[in-house]
Amino acid sequence: AGQMDGDSLKVEIAKNSGFCFGVKKAIDTTMSVIEEKSVVSSLGPLIHNQQVVDVLDKKGLSVVQEPEEAKGSLVIRSHGVPLEIYERARKSDIDVVDCTCPFVRKVQKKAESCFKAGKKVIIIGDASHPEVKGINGWCGGEAYIIGSLEDVSKLPELDEVCIVAQTTMRNELFEQLSEAIAKKSKAAEIYNTICSATRERQDSCVDLAKRADAMIVIGGKNSSNTRKLVEISEKYCENVFFIETADEIDTEKFEKYDLVGITAGASTPDWIIEEVFNKMNNINDKSEMERALEESFVSIRRGDIIEGEVIMVT
Ligand code: F3S
Repeated sequence: AGQMDGDSLKVEIAKNSGFCFGVKKAIDTTMSVIEEKSVVSSLGPLIHNQQVVDVLDKKGLSVVQEPEEAKGSLVIRSHGVPLEIYERARKSDIDVVDCTCPFVRKVQKKAESCFKAGKKVIIIGDASHPEVKGINGWCGGEAYIIGSLEDVSKLPELDEVCIVAQTTMRNELFEQLSEAIAKKSKAAEIYNTICSATRERQDSCVDLAKRADAMIVIGGKNSSNTRKLVEISEKYCENVFFIETADEIDTEKFEKYDLVGITAGASTPDWIIEEVFNKMNNINDKSEMERALEESFVSIRRGDIIEGEVIMVT
């Protein structure tokens, strides 16, 4: 860092930043249901991004905490929910719009089948996260939830286990913890269920953080996948700024750097990334920035790959 040749600052957006396939799909589906029915509720805020939640609220999406409180249709968000929520909705005759991400659905199904086969399910993830609570609800609420080596040390000796991951886990941590758990069990089936969107986003983040003098990570303060991007950035880069919107950026702070990297969590919409990029843009040449911006977004707009099959996202 720090070439003193008067070169202008470069700003680069990491590939695969921002909205993932599952979040895009949940928002698109919800928007079309709102248009059609106008009275719609979501079980908890649709995504971990206040700006987007505010926009949806204006359009008519109310947030409820219990399925029975739903006005109109009930949207299940991409994180998914425990099995019993579907049963409760059915009993109360509530129309369910299921936006559970297919990647999450796969983990739920895996947990369910392992549980039915009499194996102990272990979820590597954050116990307080709705996705993890949801997965646990597919295996009788009896899974062990492991987030650290300390948690592993508290596990009893285990017989047959089936290990799955919260889809937004850090890969390195998953590998470390699943190995430690396998050592404590007679037989372990390990399913790395970290979704490809998360993996790609984290890989691109590593690549950029290694090269950048400073990293700006954009996302909700309560978004777990964004916090993981912060951790990854901090590992490879000394100057990391975790922000929710462009307002939090003081551009003067960045003038001394050569390369500033930007990445964003799965629930950060393009327009917020663009706002941040444009703000940084003011301290540099505009046309060059616009071109870079175009290139950076190609990967997001082209579509996401699910199990080898390309799904176009428009
Ligand atoms: Fe789905 Fe992965 Fe996004 S599980 S919701 S595509 S982060």
